[in-house]
Amino acid sequence: MKFFIDTADIKEIKDLAATGMVDGVTTNPSLAAKSGKKFVDLIAEICAVVPGPVSAEVTALDHETMMKEAAVLRKIAKNVTIKVPLTPDGLKTCKALSNDGCMVNVTLCFSPAQALLAAKAGASFISPFVGRLDDIGADGMALIQDICTIYKAYSFKTEVLVASIRGPQHVVAAAKMGAHVSTMPPSTLRQMFNHPLTDKGLKAFMDDWAKTGQSII
Ligand code: E4P
Repeated sequence: MKFFIDTADIKEIKDLAATGMVDGVTTNPSLAAKSGKKFVDLIAEICAVVPGPVSAEVTALDHETMMKEAAVLRKIAKNVTIKVPLTPDGLKTCKALSNDGCMVNVTLCFSPAQALLAAKAGASFISPFVGRLDDIGADGMALIQDICTIYKAYSFKTEVLVASIRGPQHVVAAAKMGAHVSTMPPSTLRQMFNHPLTDKGLKAFMDDWAKTGQSII
């Protein structure tokens, strides 16, 4: 499973990229606004740190303007993935861009029917939002299972990019279902490293080692 981080915070991106665990980055207009940076500069900065796919979302709602925005964003770097909303215009844009060899991430997916449309539009990634479904009392992970089953049945090339992740439990559940990618907040990726028994075990090993008075180097 690939790990993307869902943030526009360049410091967080640099810190976590250094762990070797970051395969890509997703941003959205809300995260970009929070960064306070000029969007084009922000995406360029992220692309210079992470060589994998970096999602940059269009903000127009109509196909023609989406295409113009995508043309600007695609020029920033080779690893820019154009993110479009799951609307008729978004999917029309997805089809046109993917036919032109551009990676496209279709976002704001909340149903298997929508995911089916995105795959038929040639999306490189579909982003189903599990946390936001859980938030309204629905079952976010059931959506991931449905999409994985459908995509497998038809050998669609579109990768399932699990989004709106709230914690390591979502990542593990998605991995068990065979989802291709999890995009998570930096805090979730950090949590994945942790286990109290690791800390306890390491302390015991270090205490015993100190008693030997030895040093390896
Ligand atoms: C994905 O690409 C989205 O940016 C993101 O996962 C949304 O997550 P949220 O529901 O925590 O805002």
